[in-house]
Amino acid sequence: MKFGYFDDANREYVITSPRTPYPWINYLGTQGFFSLISNTAGGYSFYKDARLRRITRYRYNNVPIDMGGRYFYIKDGETIWNPGWSPVKTELDAYECRHGMGYTIITGKKNDLKAEVTFFVPQNYDGEVQQVVLTNEGSSSKEFSLFSFAEWCLWDAQDDCTNFQRNYSTGRVEVVGSTIYHKTEYRDRRDHFAFYTVNDTIDGYDTDRDAFIGLYNGFHNPEAVMAGKATDSFADGWSPIASHYKKITLAPGESKTLVYILGYVEMPADQKFEADGKTINKVKALKMIEQYDTPEKVAAGMAELKAAWDKLLGILNVETPDDKVNRMVNIWNQYQCMVTFNLSRSASYFESGIGRGMGFRDSNQDVLGFVHQIPDRARERIIDIASTQFPDGGCYHQYQPLTKKGNADIGGDFSDDPLWLILSVSAYIKETGDWTILDEMVPYDNDMSIAQTMLEHLKVSFYHIVNNLGPHGLPLAMRADWNDCINLSCYSDTPGESFQTYTNPKFAAEGGYSKIAESVMVATLFTYTGPNYVAILKHLGKDDEAAKAQAEIDKMKANIMESAFDGDWFLRAYDAEGKKMGSKECEEGKIFIEPQGFAVMSEIGKEEGADIKTLNAIDKYLNTDFGLVLNNPAFTKYYVQYGEISTYPGGYKENAGIFTHNNAWIICAEAYAGRGDKAFEYYSKIAPAFTEETSDIHKTEPYVYGQMIGGKDAGSDIGKPGNHFGQGKNSWLTGTAAWNMVAISQYILGIAADFDGLRIDPSIPAAWDGLSAKREFRGATYDIKVTNPNHVCKGVKAVTVDGNAIEGNVLPAFGDGKTHTVEVTMG
Ligand code: GLC
Ligand code: GLC
Repeated sequence: MKFGYFDDANREYVITSPRTPYPWINYLGTQGFFSLISNTAGGYSFYKDARLRRITRYRYNNVPIDMGGRYFYIKDGETIWNPGWSPVKTELDAYECRHGMGYTIITGKKNDLKAEVTFFVPQNYDGEVQQVVLTNEGSSSKEFSLFSFAEWCLWDAQDDCTNFQRNYSTGRVEVVGSTIYHKTEYRDRRDHFAFYTVNDTIDGYDTDRDAFIGLYNGFHNPEAVMAGKATDSFADGWSPIASHYKKITLAPGESKTLVYILGYVEMPADQKFEADGKTINKVKALKMIEQYDTPEKVAAGMAELKAAWDKLLGILNVETPDDKVNRMVNIWNQYQCMVTFNLSRSASYFESGIGRGMGFRDSNQDVLGFVHQIPDRARERIIDIASTQFPDGGCYHQYQPLTKKGNADIGGDFSDDPLWLILSVSAYIKETGDWTILDEMVPYDNDMSIAQTMLEHLKVSFYHIVNNLGPHGLPLAMRADWNDCINLSCYSDTPGESFQTYTNPKFAAEGGYSKIAESVMVATLFTYTGPNYVAILKHLGKDDEAAKAQAEIDKMKANIMESAFDGDWFLRAYDAEGKKMGSKECEEGKIFIEPQGFAVMSEIGKEEGADIKTLNAIDKYLNTDFGLVLNNPAFTKYYVQYGEISTYPGGYKENAGIFTHNNAWIICAEAYAGRGDKAFEYYSKIAPAFTEETSDIHKTEPYVYGQMIGGKDAGSDIGKPGNHFGQGKNSWLTGTAAWNMVAISQYILGIAADFDGLRIDPSIPAAWDGLSAKREFRGATYDIKVTNPNHVCKGVKAVTVDGNAIEGNVLPAFGDGKTHTVEVTMG
C-alpha cells in the first residue's frame, strides 16, 4: 500500500494521506540552522547542536505520536483545522505534503479555504521561513482567523526535559509589533536569542503556553483558538511559546500571503542590549526579518535553494532502465548522504538529539557518500575526525561537534575505528586528486603540539591493527568493532552498565579488554582497506614502506584462511575464551554477515573458491524477502560472553535484524565477484524506492534508508514469527546512506573514482541493455554511455573516449573543463 508518490521532475515525494504508517519527515537547513519537519508539520529546530541549542521544544515518544511542531490553526466559523491535519485532526477536503530538497510544502483544504504552507531554511540564513498562502476557492466571502504556534525550548534540550524545578521559573520573552522574542537566560550568560515574526500586522498574540492552550487542553484544542481570540499573554516563567493571531477576510477567489520567520540570533557580548541594558538589541534580528519579508524575497530564496541542489545533484546523474534506481541515485540517496553529513547520528525521529556526538567510524564512512558533492567540506571533516586520534593510532570513539574534541565519557578502544580513516582519506584523494591532504599537519587528541602529517595518521591507523593482534594473529576485538553490540570483554550481568564502556574487572589489569578475543570482521576490513594505504605509499614513491605494509596484509590474509575460514564462510570472532563465534559449531549465531563482504572483496581464499562459497552461504542462510539478516540463527537467550547483541529479541537490531548498512557490503561483494543479478536483487530488497508499494509493512519513509528492517525472526520471541518482519526502523541517519550510494553507483553501475582516474566497471543485471551517466570529475564532465549487447553482468570489452579507443577501463582525469564522450561496451 502506498501513501503517496514520487514526483521525480520536482525531486519531491508527495504524501497524499496524513495518516502515514509513521511520521514521514524531512530536514530543512544545511549550515547552522536545522529543522526536522514531519508530513503533518511536527518536529523542531535547533542551531548547530541539537542538544545545546535547541530552539523549539519536541517531546519524543509522545502519545499520540509526533505532537509539537510549528502549527497553523485556522478557525473558520465553528470549524478549526490545520493545513497539515494534525494536531486538531479535523478531516480535510484535501491534503498534500511535498517533501523536497531542503523544503516541505504542506497544503490543506477545508470548506473552500485552501492553505498552502512552504517551509524552508534559506541558504546562509539562520532561520526557518514559513510562507502561508490562503485562498478562498468558494463563491462567497470568508472571514476566519489564523493562529501560528511554536513552543520554545529553553536551549539545553536535556535540561529542558528534566530540570523542571529550575526551568519552570526561567522563561522570558519580549514582544514588539509582530515579533515575539525568546530570551530565556539572555540577560545572564547566553549571547543568543530566537524570534518568531510575521510580515503583517497582527490582532493579538500569546507567549504563555497555559494561556494559549489551557492547562487541561492539548495541542488539538487550544483554548485561545477555540475562543477565536488571542489573550495577549506574556510569559513569565513556565513555558514560553509564540503565537500570532490574525483576523482575515477573503473575497471569493482572493488570496493572501503571509510570511513567518522563526529565527536564531547570536550577538557579540558587548552589543547584547539597548542603552537601558535590558532590552534586546534587535539590529541583527531586524536585518534578518527584512531579508524575507515579502513573497518575492521568499521566491528568490527558494530559487537559490533549488539552484544549490541542482549543483549538488548535477555531479552524478544516471539513467538506467530502472526508474527506481534513477530516483535513488540521482535524488534521494544523494540527498540522504548530505543530511547524514550534516547531522551525523544526532537528530532524527529515532535519535533524540541529546545522545551522542559524531562517531569516528560513522563520520568517516559518511564521507564515502558525499565526497563527490562537497569535497572541501569532506576534507575539513576528515581533518576534524583525525584530530581526535591518539598518537598510537587508537581514537576517541566519538567527538562533540561544537568543541570538535574527543568524548572522554565513551573513550576509545573500538577495534575498527582507525581503519575507516584510511578509507575516507583514500576516497577523498580518489575523488579530488588532491594529495596535499597527506601533508596536512593534524593534531593528536586535539593537541597541536604533537601534530603529525595526515600520512602519519594513516600509518598509525594501519599499524594500530598490526600491533594489536590476538593468539591467531587476528585483530583484537576490544570493546566492540563495527558491531557495537558484540562486546566480547564485557560479561555484564548488572542492569544499566553500558556494554560499550563498562570494564569488567576480569580484564582491568589487561587494559580493559581481553587479549584473547579477536574480530574476524576487523581482519577482513583490514585486508579491504589496507591496499589503499599501500597504493598511497607507492604513489609517493615509498616503495619499501609499501612492501612492508603489503606483507602485513598478506600475512593477515593467511591468518584468516588458517584460523577464520569455517569451510563455507568466515567466522565472526573468537570470544574471550578462545571459542569460535559465527561458526557451524555454534548452537545459535552460526553465520554473521559482517566479515564476509570484505573477505570476498579482498579475494581471501579465492583460489580455493572461498569467495563463491561464502556468497552462496549468505544467500542460503541470510537472504530473506526484505533483505539480508545480520546473523542466523538469531540468539534466543542471553550470552553473557557476547554482550549486547543477544539482549535484543531475535529479528531486531544487531540480533538478526536486517541491518541495511552491512547489506551494502554484500551487494558490493556480489558485484565485485561479477554476479550483477544477485547484487541487484539484494539492492532492490532494501532500497527505499522499492519498498514504496509495501509502505504499510515497511512503515518508515519510502525515500530514505533506515538503519534496520525487522528480520525473519522478528516476533519469534512472542511466539509470532513474522510479526514486524519487513518493518523499517531508525530512518534517516545511518551509514547505510553512504554505503548504498557506494554499492549502487560504484559497484553496480560501476562508476568509481580511483587514484588515477575514473574507473568504469559495471556489474549489472544481465537483462539490462546498458546505462548512461553524466559525471563531473576533477574539473571535467564525462558523458558516459554503457552498452551491454551480449547481456552479461560484468566485463568491459572496449572503451572509447571522444571516439578514440583507450587501454583498460580507467578514464584519465582531463581537468580541462570540457565534456568528454565515453562509450563503454560490455561483453
Ligand atoms: C549504528 C552505529 C554504528 C554501528 C552500527 C552497528 O549504525 O551508528 O556506529 O557500527 O550501529 O552496531
Ligand atoms: C549504537 C548503535 C546501535 C546499538 C547501540 C548499542 O548506538 O547505533 O545499533 O544498538 O550502539 O548501545
